Amino acid sequence: MVGAWAEEVGNLEGPRSLTVEELPEAIALSTEVFDPGGTSMGLQFPLLFSPDNVEELRVFSEGGRVVSLVGCLHQTILIEGHPLPVGSIGSVCTRPEYRGRGLARRLVCDVFRRLEAVEIPLALISGDRGLYKQLGCVEAGCFERFEFTREDWVGLLSRRKKDERASPDGVSFRFFDERDLPLLHELYRREPVRFFRSLDQFDRLIWRHPGLKRLFGDERIVVAYRGRPEQVSAYVITRARTIQGGSTRVHIVEYAGSREDIIDVIGSVIEEISPSVITFTVPAQDIQFLRLLNAYDLSGSRCTLPGHTLYVTNFRTLLERLSSYIEERTGMRPGRDVFAVGESGASEGEEMRWTLRVGDEQVEIRSRQHLTRLIFGGITSEHFEGVAPRGRARRFLERAFPVPLPVPGLNYI
Ligand SMILES: CC(C)(COP(=O)(O)OP(=O)(O)OC[C@H]1O[C@@H](n2cnc3c(N)ncnc32)[C@H](O)[C@@H]1OP(=O)(O)O)[C@@H](O)C(=O)NCCC(=O)NCCS
Repeated sequence: MVGAWAEEVGNLEGPRSLTVEELPEAIALSTEVFDPGGTSMGLQFPLLFSPDNVEELRVFSEGGRVVSLVGCLHQTILIEGHPLPVGSIGSVCTRPEYRGRGLARRLVCDVFRRLEAVEIPLALISGDRGLYKQLGCVEAGCFERFEFTREDWVGLLSRRKKDERASPDGVSFRFFDERDLPLLHELYRREPVRFFRSLDQFDRLIWRHPGLKRLFGDERIVVAYRGRPEQVSAYVITRARTIQGGSTRVHIVEYAGSREDIIDVIGSVIEEISPSVITFTVPAQDIQFLRLLNAYDLSGSRCTLPGHTLYVTNFRTLLERLSSYIEERTGMRPGRDVFAVGESGASEGEEMRWTLRVGDEQVEIRSRQHLTRLIFGGITSEHFEGVAPRGRARRFLERAFPVPLPVPGLNYI
């Protein structure tokens, strides 16, 4: 399919990596195309648009001018301590006069191939365009999205005041101070499902441009502490946007630490900003936070990883990378005695099919998208029933999957 477009890109150079000298031009292209509220994309995504990362910024150029760009950042997700390397893909853009010639599609394919070559089995793509879906990307993951009004939250806080088990009184709040960074890093590092993030990376990801907007909003960090100011118990990163009619919408970008104290931090933000709407996403595995919210009558709606689609570059590698996680959960080890994955139908015109073997049982999966959703969540119960109605395979699949994913938060690309 890609070949059919070959002659149309004949004069262009690429796919190739950006050079350090071209980095300002690529940032300018991305800033122009996404027009993100007047703030440079380089400032908003410091790890993606870093001189250290130019190899992973793939482009087409003509006469030395960058005309199409796909950004990728190699990151690691830590799933209850088990590392899973991922490629976060974003800042996909083509100059208007070069659109519709298959450039972005070729660059995305190129990034997928490069990820596979370095055994990074999963791509997290920010976006759900036809472009990605035609290549096999799919919405997946198990999350709950909350959207509520200021009044809903005030109701929650008054129910919480009456709750004898809650202890909202001992907690104090303040804005982020530079001395908090190592404390917040510690809180983040204790989250069971998260991105690997060194102290230096956390430092670079924190927003320190109060006059400028990030992703159209004013971003701030509010910290909760109990007793002395260094006894930090939680933090919440918020992004506030003014919407039509002048009211404010607050999105919670990231949180870590005590779930009780996170609820109170959100309360303090609402009291101060008085937004009309508050939104945030909680991963399904964060049972403690979900139970707490439900206990105060707030419920979310099930969703996949918001704003993203997932692409598995290689299922065998994925299962190898997940083998310690799966072994710990199920006692079975992918690729060895009990469990394997086979691919068939790779020839021209034939749909690829995947097979999972659990002991002597075979499970047929009809598409790449279904298998991605089986592993990371999002498969319908009817389809799950159809794939493995009973027996050892079903018990295995239910214990091993879905593999939990974090909300990207500051690691969003
Ligand atoms: C989105 C964008 C990057 C596409 O760039 P492009 O170089 O024109 O992309 P392509 O020519 O590869 O693809 C354009 C469309 O043709 C389709 N196409 C491309 N090659 C094809 C092929 N060989 N066969 C069938 N369809 C093909 C793509 O799937 C895509 O469909 P979509 O518009 O539903 O997503 C460009 O329009 C842009 O910069 N938009 C603004 C920024 C943006 O929205 N970025 C995406 C953020 S998620």
